[in-house]
This record gives sequence, C-alpha cells and structure tokens, in this order.
Amino acid sequence: MPDSVIAEGLTRDVVASAAGASSARLREIYTKFVEHIHAFVRDVELTPEEWLAGIRFLTATGQKCDDVRQEFILLSDTLGISMLVDALAGREASAGTESSVLGPFFTTDAPDVERGASIATKPTGIPLDVTGSVRGPAGNALAGVAIEVWEVDGDGLYDVQYDGRTTPDCRGRVHTATDGTFAFAATLPVSYSIPGDGPVGEMLVALGRHTMRPAHLHFSLATPGYLPLTTAIYVDGDPYIESDAVFGVKPSLIGPYVAHEGPRYSLHRDFVLVPERARARA
Ligand code: BEZ
Ligand code: FE
Repeated sequence: MPDSVIAEGLTRDVVASAAGASSARLREIYTKFVEHIHAFVRDVELTPEEWLAGIRFLTATGQKCDDVRQEFILLSDTLGISMLVDALAGREASAGTESSVLGPFFTTDAPDVERGASIATKPTGIPLDVTGSVRGPAGNALAGVAIEVWEVDGDGLYDVQYDGRTTPDCRGRVHTATDGTFAFAATLPVSYSIPGDGPVGEMLVALGRHTMRPAHLHFSLATPGYLPLTTAIYVDGDPYIESDAVFGVKPSLIGPYVAHEGPRYSLHRDFVLVPERARARA
C-alpha cells in the first residue's frame, strides 16, 4: 500500500468529526490543518520517538512563555510564518510602504516625544537623526499620524530585556506635523540576537542556523481612515541583512543610513499609507 493512503479512513474520520463546527471558516481551517498535518506525518514517515520529541518541544515552548516572553511567536517568526501571514494580509496595501515583522518587544508605554527630541534616555550607541514624512498614495501629506518607534540600545538589548526596568528607553511616539513631516533622534541601530535561551534557540542551533537580526529601527504608524502599518528600516551593509533569523528584511526597507562626522548618522524615510477603503474594494 503506498504511504499516501495509509490510514486514509482515519484522516477522513478526523475531518468529518468537525461537521458541527461553530463556523464554516473554523471547519475549513480545521479540515485543512488535519489534512496537511496527516499528509506531513505520512510524507516524513514520522516515528513514535520523533512524534514524542515534537510533543516535548511544543511543551517546552509553552513552558517558556510568560508575561514578557512569547516563545510561540518566536517560533512562528523563525519558521517564516509571521512574515507569510503578514504578506497575505498586506496584499491589498501594495501601493504603500512594505511591512515587516512586529516582533515581541513592542510595548504600549512609549512616551510622546517632541519633534527633534531623542527616544534614547542613556548615551549608549552612535547618535542618529531621523526625518521623513507620511503620505497617502497620491502624495497627500498626512498630518497628526502617530508613529511608534522602538529599537535596541547600543548594547543590542531592548529595555524590557533588563531586569527591574522601570521606565521605557529607546522607544517613543512621534506625530507628523501639518505638512506630514516628522523628526526625532535615536541611536544607530545595531544587530542583535533574538532570545536564544529557550527551545527555539535550541532548534536554531540544531538546524545550523544563527539567532541574529540585522540592525533595524521599528516603526508602527496609525491614523484614522488608513490601514495601519508595522514595518522596520534596516541598516545597509549589515552582516546579517541576507540571513535575518526571522526573515523580516525586504529590499525596499533597507536604509539609507548616512554617516556624518562626529560620528553621527542620519536617516530620511518617507512612508506611504493606503486608505482603508482600498481593503473594502479588494
Ligand atoms: C524584533 O525585531 O524585535 C524581533 C522580531 C522577531 C523576533 C524577535 C525580535
Ligand atoms: Fe527588533
């Protein structure tokens, strides 16, 4: 009997067991999930020991999660699932700036930052001046757009990775002026390791992969009437730009970070948001 038909009736029975699912969409997702995972088990001829190793891995992944650590999102990120879901969701926003991975280090307590002021509260890292604008697809300036920005400090750590964090650092909320422009200061992003002390880190080592992300500055933009955008701007020439551990880099999101005397860097980026009605038409 070919492997592809082993226990075919079992797969049919498991699928049929959800005939009473609470919605058609739930039934569709469940059916496809069961069909694909049964096909995967047949395809790789999964042994009982490998199945148990998989169960242990997922158990450890869950046990690693707490209020500030989400190991399942890290797993999704390192398997490229987060970026795939993002790509599917972003199809209708193709006229706008491309998106990138949110990651687990966004927080909701970033302070409002005055135009030109710095999001860094301690002097680690090389100073960076960031300017730019936010527009609609026709080039119309968007005023009052809230832009959340966050990054690691000069030591490659997010503020939430320090024990005893009391106040936010290297994160802030800036707003565009009436002409759609914004300006703030930060530090030149550095490449850093995603948390590697859990099952996902062990998985990456076993796979011969590294845990590094290329240097980047996160941006999350939102304003009424437009699709929200979460993205990041990556540093040109970073050694990990071609091998991001979470597959977040897109060519349109690289630089330009420009070096000046000091040392000091600058970055100028214009962002394009897509009107919400574009989603309704899609
Ligand atoms: C980040 O860029 O902050 C990030 C993204 C995915 C996993 C870990 C960190
Ligand atoms: Fe990051």
